[in-house]
Amino acid sequence: MLLVTGGAGFIGSNFILSTLAATGEPIVNLDKLTYAGNVRNLDALGADPRHFFVKGDICDRALLRDLFARHRPRAIVHFAAESHVDRSIHAPGEFVQTNVVGTFSLLEEARAFRESLPDAEKGAFRFLHVSTDEVYGSLGERDPAFTEATAYAPNSPYAASKAGADHLVRAYWHTYRLPVITTNCSNNYGPYQFPEKLIPLMIHHALAGKPLPVYGDGQNVRDWLYVLDHCAALRAVLERGRPGETYNIGGDCETRNLDVVQGICALLEEMRPRGTGRYADLIQFVADRPGHDRRYAIDCAKLSGELGWAARETFDSGLKKTVLWYLANEQWVADVTSGAYRTWVDVNYAKRGAA
Ligand code: NAD
Ligand code: DAU
Repeated sequence: MLLVTGGAGFIGSNFILSTLAATGEPIVNLDKLTYAGNVRNLDALGADPRHFFVKGDICDRALLRDLFARHRPRAIVHFAAESHVDRSIHAPGEFVQTNVVGTFSLLEEARAFRESLPDAEKGAFRFLHVSTDEVYGSLGERDPAFTEATAYAPNSPYAASKAGADHLVRAYWHTYRLPVITTNCSNNYGPYQFPEKLIPLMIHHALAGKPLPVYGDGQNVRDWLYVLDHCAALRAVLERGRPGETYNIGGDCETRNLDVVQGICALLEEMRPRGTGRYADLIQFVADRPGHDRRYAIDCAKLSGELGWAARETFDSGLKKTVLWYLANEQWVADVTSGAYRTWVDVNYAKRGAA
């Protein structure tokens, strides 16, 4: 049994769907269902008894204690977080609460639960903390890519809250020998990503004929990884990673934001041409993000060398799949942007209560 936090979000739901298909191991999914969480992402599971959904907050210690006692997970895969940099600039409080205090709560309850286990199970227990490359700060044009030894230098409230969580996770290994592993991954993209992030936002706006807002000069660089490649890397780390270690995960495909947006426009031109004008005509340069990190690049030689992981998608193949998914799932986008899925959650869960 795995305890997954944030499993109704973008990466968490992809992780649950792909893990149930790959290994069949049952999963308890604890998610608060913030604006970014949508249990409908898991509709494909139907009434699969291997997936047990619990609506709740990772800061709720009593709930965590109860879930550990009842489900006795062999591992935690911790995705739950406030994840959007721009929101952290407007309202950082929730980021500190969920990302730092929430991770602390989970660490404390995991530590107490593990202490209660027999020795054989104690050794096998894992706490996999899913983190970000943003904790390393920003690179200059010619700097080498981030390695696991790069010093932390977070620049946004989001990155600082994730860095705070990473430090707590590290301390629980050094102080209590809780078998933690941290992964630091680059920008993910793919199905079920909330259309506030660059790629789904651009697809959504383009299809609606709205401006495509490129921050600053559009020359900021991100490394992009298809979400299912990230999920496969997490499974490799969970099964074969060494406790107390950190692993970088990346797609080895640095791309400038403007090129990403133009790539999306080109794909849409092929797949659903505009009636009048071209999608690229909608591109608009807008005021930059405050403190906008210029460049991220990830060296994931440790992960590929130690655990034999390699990404299967190139950025071209992954972006094509992603655009096709959004074209085939316009109702999903309409629901999450209108908030209609919240009504569905109320209807579906109000009478069932928390599990
Ligand atoms: P997301 O915003 O799509 O999903 C976050 C999920 O966490 C949502 O389902 C939300 O309801 C849930 N949640 C938020 N606060 C909660 C709380 N207090 N208790 C329980 N659940 C709560 O995020 P994502 O993009 O899927 O990212 C998942 C994790 O991966 C995050 O920790 C993020 O920092 C990390 N990460 C993301 C990326 C990326 O490109 N998206 C890259 C590297 C690392
Ligand atoms: O690097 C990993 C991180 O990637 C994760 O930890 C975060 O959770 C995830 O949100 C993502 O952070 P970014 O800030 O890099 O992603 P975002 O999609 O918000 O922006 C990607 C780039 O595109 C960034 O340089 C800002 C720019 N951008 C973004 C938006 C939303 C625009 O130019 N216009 C936009 O409208």
